[in-house]
Amino acid sequence: MATCTIERAGPGDLVAMAQCMAIDADAFPYASAQFGARAASARVWVARDDPGGRVVGFLAARVRRGAMHVEGLAVEERARRRGIARALVRTATAHARAVGLAAVRLHVSVTNAAAIALYEAEGFAIARAMRDFYPPSAFGDRGALEMVLPLSATA
Ligand SMILES: CC(C)(COP(=O)(O)OP(=O)(O)OC[C@H]1O[C@@H](n2cnc3c(N)ncnc32)[C@H](O)[C@@H]1OP(=O)(O)O)[C@@H](O)C(=O)NCCC(=O)NCCS
Repeated sequence: MATCTIERAGPGDLVAMAQCMAIDADAFPYASAQFGARAASARVWVARDDPGGRVVGFLAARVRRGAMHVEGLAVEERARRRGIARALVRTATAHARAVGLAAVRLHVSVTNAAAIALYEAEGFAIARAMRDFYPPSAFGDRGALEMVLPLSATA
């Protein structure tokens, strides 16, 4: 497991939100989440190498209709393959389970073998394949997989 600190970050933590935006801008061709949104449905977890230190990864999600929807997950390039994304996914999933949500859901580009491997290793299954999901300029292939981790028998 990663030797990092993971914590919830609120919209008022402007330094953490700015650090998430910088990692997001490096990792994705467009903003994956609205960092700093004050909506009650928004959830952001950040990973730091040291408590109070710089953010090295984030998971941003929304709670809608009884499920958690992961909108963005990224780890800065030099901190990858140390288990940080896995730790973020496990923290968010544990929260979803603890508050009684039925499932964790997300969309991932069909080109993103690393992320698909991570989600499958964490128990997510492909619910459906979607053509033309992403804008043409984003990942080359516009296809997405919807992946789901059921947390209850009704999910
Ligand atoms: C995908 C991403 C979040 C993974 O972050 P990470 O901290 O390096 O991932 P972890 O170290 O926790 O890896 C956990 C597992 O995911 C899989 N994985 C991660 N990176 C991988 C890669 N480059 N190739 C293949 N499998 C990979 C492996 O199964 C890995 O387990 P292992 O190291 O025991 O083999 C990171 O590469 C990233 O930020 N990419 C750009 C943004 C992105 O694609 N986000 C996902 C959007 S849905």
